[in-house]
Amino acid sequence: MFETPRIETRRLILRPLALSDAAAIQHHFNNWNVIRTLATVVPWPYPDDGAESFIKRELHKIAAGEESYQWVLVLRDGDGEAIGSINFRPRADGRKGNRGFWLAEPFWNQGLMTEAIAAVNDFAFLTLGLDHFHVCNAQSNVASRRVKQKTGAEFVGLVELPHHNGESRAEKWKVTRETWLRDRPTA
Ligand SMILES: CC(C)(COP(=O)(O)OP(=O)(O)OC[C@H]1O[C@@H](n2cnc3c(N)ncnc32)[C@H](O)[C@@H]1OP(=O)(O)O)[C@@H](O)C(=O)NCCC(=O)NCCS
Repeated sequence: MFETPRIETRRLILRPLALSDAAAIQHHFNNWNVIRTLATVVPWPYPDDGAESFIKRELHKIAAGEESYQWVLVLRDGDGEAIGSINFRPRADGRKGNRGFWLAEPFWNQGLMTEAIAAVNDFAFLTLGLDHFHVCNAQSNVASRRVKQKTGAEFVGLVELPHHNGESRAEKWKVTRETWLRDRPTA
C-alpha cells in the first residue's frame, strides 16, 4: 500500500486525509468560490455528505492499492483543522493532470499553497524519484496558474476540460525533476 507521508513546512503540516476531516472539508469546500474553477467531476451543488463520501471513496482506493497521495493542510499554529487538501496521483494518465489542490478561502493569497506544493514537489522528485508529471487548471484560474509558475511548472498547451463556471478549456503544465531540482527554493 502507498502511504501518504506527513510533511512539515514552515507554516503548514501536510498530513494524510482521514474520515475525521469530513466536517472541516464539508465546511470549507462547500463554497462556490472554491468550486467554480474546478472540473465538473466535482459535484455541485455539494451534497450534505459530500466530504464524507469523498473521503471514504479515496481511502478505499488507497486501501485497494491505488498510488494516490491525499493530504490535508493544517496550520502549524492553528487548531488542527483541515483548511485545504492536495491529491497527487503520479502514475495516473496525465491527460487531465496528476495533481489537484484547494485551500479554504479565508487563507488565500498568503503563499500557503505555494509552500505546500514545493514540499509535494520535493516528495515527488526526491522521495519517489519521478522524472515528470502533469498538472492542469482552468484558463481563468490565475491563482492556480501562479502557484504552478512559482513551483517549476512549464506551460504545455490547452486541453478540453469542462469546468463548473462554464469554461471548457484548461491550461496543461509539465513539472520536471530537472527543472525543479535546478530552481527549487532552498531556505
Ligand atoms: C488556487 C489556490 C489553491 C491558491 O492558493 P493560495 O495559497 O492562495 O496560493 P498562493 O498564495 O501560494 O499563490 C497565489 C498567487 O496568485 C495570485 N493571485 C491570486 N488571485 C489573483 C488575481 N485575481 N490576479 C492576479 N494574481 C492573483 C496571488 O497574488 C499569488 O501570486 P504572488 O505570490 O505572485 O503574488 C486557491 O486560490 C484555491 O483554493 N482556489 C480554489 C480552488 C482551485 O482553484 N484549485 C486549483 C484548481 S486547478
